[in-house]
Amino acid sequence: MTNKDIERVLSEIRELACKTSRDIEEARIRLLGKKGEITALFEEFRTIDKSEKAVFGKPLNELKQAAITRLEELKEAVGGGEAASTGAAADLSMPGDDFPLGSRHPVSIVRQQIVDIFRKFGYDVAEGPEIEDDRHVFEALNFPPNHPARDMQDTFFVSTGHLNPILLRTHTSSVQVRTMESASLPIRVICPGRVFRNEAISARAHCIFHQVEGLYVDENVTFADLKQAILLFAREMFGPDTKIRMRPSYFPFTEPSAEVDVSCNICHGKGCNVCKGTGWLEIMGCGMVDPNVLKASGIDPQKYSGFAFGMGIERIAMLKWRVNDLRHYFENDLRFLKQFESCVEA
Ligand code: DAH
Repeated sequence: MTNKDIERVLSEIRELACKTSRDIEEARIRLLGKKGEITALFEEFRTIDKSEKAVFGKPLNELKQAAITRLEELKEAVGGGEAASTGAAADLSMPGDDFPLGSRHPVSIVRQQIVDIFRKFGYDVAEGPEIEDDRHVFEALNFPPNHPARDMQDTFFVSTGHLNPILLRTHTSSVQVRTMESASLPIRVICPGRVFRNEAISARAHCIFHQVEGLYVDENVTFADLKQAILLFAREMFGPDTKIRMRPSYFPFTEPSAEVDVSCNICHGKGCNVCKGTGWLEIMGCGMVDPNVLKASGIDPQKYSGFAFGMGIERIAMLKWRVNDLRHYFENDLRFLKQFESCVEA
């Protein structure tokens, strides 16, 4: 054994250049493995004279330590990550990888827009259970038992056979009832939520969809207030030039009742295939809260009056973005959902 042997291995260690973890492992085996160069020097060390041992003991141990330290350094530099697998050293000037962010669902976007518009007008948000009882979905909304209007809403029942069956709510009007039962007057709420109907799934119908219910109860609330609230909403939602028209309709819980159309924002009244040539698009049902409904929730109809309205969120989103098939909302096809990435308004 000579100093030169040790020097040679030491300079080999200093010049070690490893690009991958594999290179490092190979260097480790070459130096410290069973048949490695340093291992061989240690084996030779066992056979030399005592006097020589005194000379080479310390440098030999330092050599081994230098190899271990250098290999550790190289490991850290390579990082065991991408650079190791591609063989390329990391280029720290490269732009970072995209962090894939999801986008908001179009139904959530429109729901938020509706909520924001009514919040500006001073409405609170109320929510209620999706699994409801007959009383809140029908009875207190002036649908007597066996009333034919119950057929308008194909109901999923959870349990029947008693006076107050449990069911999946068919509309968010149930939250009207819950609010009138518990809130103090005046009431000004909107109630967004998911509703369920036993319908065959098609481009125009689904068994699950979303609605927003609105309710305003106070002294001297009139139909003119209702019309004003809806006109302001329609202009905020569809643009400042939007017109509305009301057609007489029927709902058990409102009297009088109306259906609301907005001027078609695609053809601006000229007539196109979305508005079927009429220039108008139906957006919601509404009316003055029937005195029976106020009474059923403990509100005196002699003193108070109110208006209510209800709209489908998917329908509003369809009109806003010209979506032609309701099923798109529920299939989670990323090609559909990604189109709404930029639609979140601050
Ligand atoms: N609940 C009705 C439906 O699901 C929508 C509705 C119409 C709600 C008129 C109302 C209203 O509050 O006044 O079809």
